[in-house]
Amino acid sequence: MKHRIVLLGPPASGKGTQAELITARYGIPVTSSGAVLREEKRRGTPLGLEADKLTSQGKLVPDEIVIELMSHWLERHGDAWIFDGFPRSVPQAEALERLLAQQGTPLDVVLALQADLATLQQRVTSRLVCSQCGLIVSAGLHVASVDAPCPRCGGALTRRNDDTLETLSERMREYAEKTEPLVEYYEQRGLLRTIDSAGVPDAVFQQVAAILES
Ligand code: AP5
Ligand code: MG
Repeated sequence: MKHRIVLLGPPASGKGTQAELITARYGIPVTSSGAVLREEKRRGTPLGLEADKLTSQGKLVPDEIVIELMSHWLERHGDAWIFDGFPRSVPQAEALERLLAQQGTPLDVVLALQADLATLQQRVTSRLVCSQCGLIVSAGLHVASVDAPCPRCGGALTRRNDDTLETLSERMREYAEKTEPLVEYYEQRGLLRTIDSAGVPDAVFQQVAAILES
């Protein structure tokens, strides 16, 4: 069983959705660098407010900030985890490799989720997030509209402020320039597995589960 997992993939490819399914099935804890940055913003910390300026324009946050946040999380967790959206650049991947080498807990697998641009656009414009429990849902798939209550806790559903088509194109540019080189980086290390993320969440999860259990 693989239990040290990185989820790689363009915006709205389903990283958060699959992370939640992996945690529910196998109990492996997850951290999402994007979610951590949004939580910092919600708490009104200087770091959160600074990061929000960049994320709302679709830009990546500087490597040093993200590496620091993620290494703190790693210190507090054991030897099984999922990173959703981290690393996102070669310097971040090198930093993670160093941290894991120090701990003697190497990465088991990198799951690269793939979906075409039309699918990503559709998912970005349909995404809703529960303001109370953080559940990610899709309008038209899990709930009828933004006015519906969260299906898990009844909280209010909201839209992310980077979920517009304009911001998506900038996020895609950043992805192509800084994150896509990680596909080759992890391929060279024999860690990369590709997932077709175009199907419904359960169909995608079947591919994920088969790899994790192999
Ligand atoms: P982050 O929050 O990680 O955003 P992202 O990479 O753009 O990915 P998303 O969260 O948008 O998509 P996802 O792949 O998780 O898809 P989801 O499961 O929600 O980061 C936000 C920002 O923070 C970045 O742009 C950057 O500025 C900054 N940041 C974060 N990490 C950083 C780092 N390491 N370094 C520097 N900066 C960093 O699914 C999307 C929607 O589709 C949902 O509504 C879901 O219900 C639906 N859906 C999912 N799967 C399916 C399916 N199979 N079929 C139908 N619908 C589906
Ligand atoms: Mg996400």
